[in-house]
Amino acid sequence: MLIALFPGDGIGPEIVAQAKRVLDALAIEGMTYEEGLVGGAAYKAAGHPLPPETLELAKRADAILFGAVGDPSCDSLERHLRPEQAILGLRKELGLFSNLRPAKVFPELAGESALKPEVAGAIDLLIVRETNGDVYFGEKGFRKTADGLREGYDIMSYNEAEVRRIAHSGFQAARARRGKLCSVDKANVLETSQLWRDVVIEVSADYPDVALSHMYVDNAAMQLVRDPGQFDVIVTGNLFGDILSDQASMCVGSIGMLASATLNGSGQGLYEPIHGSAPDIAGQGKANPLATVLSAAMMLRYSLGLNAEADRIEAAVAKALAGGARSPDLGGTMSTVEMGDAVLAALA
Ligand code: IPM
Ligand code: MG
Repeated sequence: MLIALFPGDGIGPEIVAQAKRVLDALAIEGMTYEEGLVGGAAYKAAGHPLPPETLELAKRADAILFGAVGDPSCDSLERHLRPEQAILGLRKELGLFSNLRPAKVFPELAGESALKPEVAGAIDLLIVRETNGDVYFGEKGFRKTADGLREGYDIMSYNEAEVRRIAHSGFQAARARRGKLCSVDKANVLETSQLWRDVVIEVSADYPDVALSHMYVDNAAMQLVRDPGQFDVIVTGNLFGDILSDQASMCVGSIGMLASATLNGSGQGLYEPIHGSAPDIAGQGKANPLATVLSAAMMLRYSLGLNAEADRIEAAVAKALAGGARSPDLGGTMSTVEMGDAVLAALA
């Protein structure tokens, strides 16, 4: 089992290092690691955010553990050279289309949520976000209007095959949970969303045991803070899923807690915290590594079939939190390494 480690930029190396310590502590037989350059770090060392060697390693690996990409010093580069292209390129090149972002409140952290603890405590949802299409990957560019004004454009589109396969991911995830699927779109305005909704309804015929509902994205954003406990699985497109998953993270308590898996249908997956590279706190030991540690647990479960080991990591995180482990984002003062220490102690 080959794991590709892509720490990336900003706090990426610090958080991936802690997840690696936790994986090492499990001493899983046959697990090997190779590290690769991504993001601004790769651009600076090799001239491209996703160098060929990195892509080759990603394709060869059974799973990828990814930190974060994003570096303000690269913001003026041409878009295809910016750090973000590393994650977008990996998703596209490996066909990683099904991004699973669970949000569940650890009881100890309900007080950290931006919501009232009794509202936050009810959150146990999964966002299934499509990550191979939508406005992210459509034609884009700059042009001049007839009046000579500068204009930027990004084409939003989904074809029915793309919608169908993510709809199946959503229904299957709902079936394995509480049997409720909410499809989020903007069908009152967008044709892309109308097709999305039509296809999701067609696919629902295969899942009579799953209760399907539909919600416009603006309402979904509102419902997520009003009554997040109503959601089981949310399935949505790339852009809406990006936004709603950041929102869900704050409902849970901290963006430093949310893990994710992005799967391609053949078992391969990329695992990453949903947060970014946080350049403002990079290198200071302030980052919360738990989202990455929990992403490693998802990796064991979804790509490697190591459910017991995944359970152990998740239990250790819960125990560390119950024991008072708190990084600054959780209202505490523990460093990145101390948070890793706390998980390791709980694992022992
Ligand atoms: C995410 C991130 C990425 C995205 C960025 C870094 C390109 O925000 O994984 O949510 O927009 O998908
Ligand atoms: Mg995002």
